[in-house]
Amino acid sequence: MRLLVVGASGFLGAQVCRQAVGAGWSVVGTHHSGRVEVPGVETRRLDVTDRAAVRELVARVRPEAVVGTPYRYGDWAVTADGAAHVAYAAAEAGARLVHVSSDAVHAGRPEPYADDEPPSPIFPYGAAKAAAETAVRVLDPGAALVRTSLIVGEGSKQIQLCHDALAGRASLFTDELRCPIDVTDLAAAVLELLRTDYAGPLNVAGPDAVSRAELGLLVAAHAGIDPAGMKTTTGAAAGVLRPAEVRLDSTRAAGLLGTRLRGVRELLTR
Ligand SMILES: NC(=O)c1ccc[n+]([C@@H]2O[C@H](COP(=O)([O-])OP(=O)(O)OC[C@H]3O[C@@H](n4cnc5c(N)ncnc54)[C@H](OP(=O)(O)O)[C@@H]3O)[C@@H](O)[C@H]2O)c1
Repeated sequence: MRLLVVGASGFLGAQVCRQAVGAGWSVVGTHHSGRVEVPGVETRRLDVTDRAAVRELVARVRPEAVVGTPYRYGDWAVTADGAAHVAYAAAEAGARLVHVSSDAVHAGRPEPYADDEPPSPIFPYGAAKAAAETAVRVLDPGAALVRTSLIVGEGSKQIQLCHDALAGRASLFTDELRCPIDVTDLAAAVLELLRTDYAGPLNVAGPDAVSRAELGLLVAAHAGIDPAGMKTTTGAAAGVLRPAEVRLDSTRAAGLLGTRLRGVRELLTR
């Protein structure tokens, strides 16, 4: 399999590359301001906001499959337009596309979200990810859209935030619930999906819904850190507009894929 990973310098993209190289695939990975650190990957610099450059690269690489991960918080051109450019080029090349989306497309509510629920974004990042989904679905109707949640594991920004809060350098929200997933499980699920013809949105997240503060406590217990100094707050007190409770129901993915999507309580068991 010849695979193009757009955003191979990112946390998830690098893990997708690592597993694909390990499986013997021929992997080309892109970076923009960072670097691709995975041995065995042919690297290319790419700015996804440049539609012509995306088309040119995909035409040159001639991948059988493409994984699209790029986003930049607060940057519509990267997150929404960039995803559209990747989908356009993948469809043009006849390559199978897995586009990585987010639980941020939802407004938040106590009940879990099913796979096919339409986006209901309430903040700019969620709106950009929702726009990306719509563009991808129009330009490449056969593409799979992986809606995922907090990505944890070694090197995760989410876990670093917990350590910062435990050290009193940041605060964790007690009222923001998500379904964290390990980066290795997510990458394996993405690679599996590439070999299917699944089209449309698919929730790929862990089965445990926890608040960011609960995640901090799990991280503390796992690392043997006293959580007494952990700083917490609420989204309302911090004045942020973000979805509060977003639970992704990943039952469909669990049935479709061989990859087991582990919950964060299992992942962070001592
Ligand atoms: N992290 C989470 O907890 C989380 C939760 C839900 C959904 N997601 C989704 O999962 C995906 C991967 O997240 P991640 O945490 O792996 O992200 P990440 O580590 O921040 O990586 C983002 C990637 O986007 C690339 N990028 C940024 N601007 C670009 C541009 N103009 N042109 C080309 N590439 C550009 C970056 O390249 P350079 O670094 O080289 O500039 C990097 O490879 C994203 O689509 C995100 O929305 C993430």
